[in-house]
Amino acid sequence: MRLGFSGTGYIAKIHADAAQAIGARVASVANHRPESRAAFAERFAVDRTFENVPDLLAAGGIDGLVVCTPNALHAPDTLAALAAGIPVLVEKPMARTAVEAQTMHDASVASVVPLMVAHCWRFDAEALWLRDEVRAGRLGRIIRTKGYGVHVDWGPKGWFTQSALAGGGALADMGIHALDTVRFLLGDPLPERVYAAVGTYYREIDVDDTGVIVVTWQGGITSVIESGWFQPQADGPEAATQLYGTEGYGRLYPTSRKASGGELVDPGFVFPRKPHCLPEMYQAQMRAFLEVIRTGRVEEGRSDVSLVNARIVDATYTSSQRGEVVHL
Ligand SMILES: NC(=O)c1ccc[n+]([C@@H]2O[C@H](COP(=O)([O-])OP(=O)(O)OC[C@H]3O[C@@H](n4cnc5c(N)ncnc54)[C@H](O)[C@@H]3O)[C@@H](O)[C@H]2O)c1
Repeated sequence: MRLGFSGTGYIAKIHADAAQAIGARVASVANHRPESRAAFAERFAVDRTFENVPDLLAAGGIDGLVVCTPNALHAPDTLAALAAGIPVLVEKPMARTAVEAQTMHDASVASVVPLMVAHCWRFDAEALWLRDEVRAGRLGRIIRTKGYGVHVDWGPKGWFTQSALAGGGALADMGIHALDTVRFLLGDPLPERVYAAVGTYYREIDVDDTGVIVVTWQGGITSVIESGWFQPQADGPEAATQLYGTEGYGRLYPTSRKASGGELVDPGFVFPRKPHCLPEMYQAQMRAFLEVIRTGRVEEGRSDVSLVNARIVDATYTSSQRGEVVHL
């Protein structure tokens, strides 16, 4: 499998490492900065480098494109690749807005070219364990959940903090992990209503650095999600999620389950993880993308599922601005 890359930054290197670790080739790369694409090409033995994605696509020779650019470029990069018949793995958040995400999903459906969104926690062994516990009914009926996407005492700089390039701040960057993880654990429920308080308190930036989001899902489960950068404290690491059911409790990072009135069941995962975002998780995600290229079908990271995340994020900002519950 020959993969093209758009972007040469932090996550592009992680995906390129993952691709090579599972035997795929990093065949070409596009980036607007010559020095950064040259360094990426040298590190991953990439033959062909391009200034932009249209040139990379026109040159051909790839089986899939991995989009690792700022959020504002997710839609244009993805649409160009789908139009060229090239399957796409696009980073989270799927896009800046639900409108952009919708155009990407629609283009994938219309072209019958698969689009996968990189919601990496769906490929984590611990998330899969807890999802299976839920599926097996060991927590009973889930009533409520809590999830975290919070950076303590630090946050990103540059494009991440500029709304034109990022769309949103800590919610779009970190809260989306907590949001997608709880949906994964619950079997991708659809949202019924959202209430949120989102704001900017820690830095002079034009995106949010703090958020509390309450989502009630169709069927009645209510999820509380915290997003944040520069926070003095977090109740759990990225994607940590707690589930409260009629028969018990389950949680990620540290990962365990407890029956009501019973003993803790420890599946034996190491905590804390170093690094928290394990290479194995990204390798499993990349393996899934290679399978998408082979079969034309997306199992986890489906664009229709991620589009719902984008709608929830939009509703979150709307709810916070208006101080009202938003019904979806
Ligand atoms: N799933 C995860 O674990 C995870 C982790 C980090 C980032 N991400 C996502 O990956 C994407 C990229 O994030 P990153 O951390 O790699 O960012 P980064 O800043 O490290 O890299 C961004 C890349 O895009 C390029 N780029 C192209 N046009 C640009 C422009 N106009 N302005 C700035 N950069 C431009 C940069 O040169 C760079 O190569 C984002 O959507 C982010 O949300 C996901």
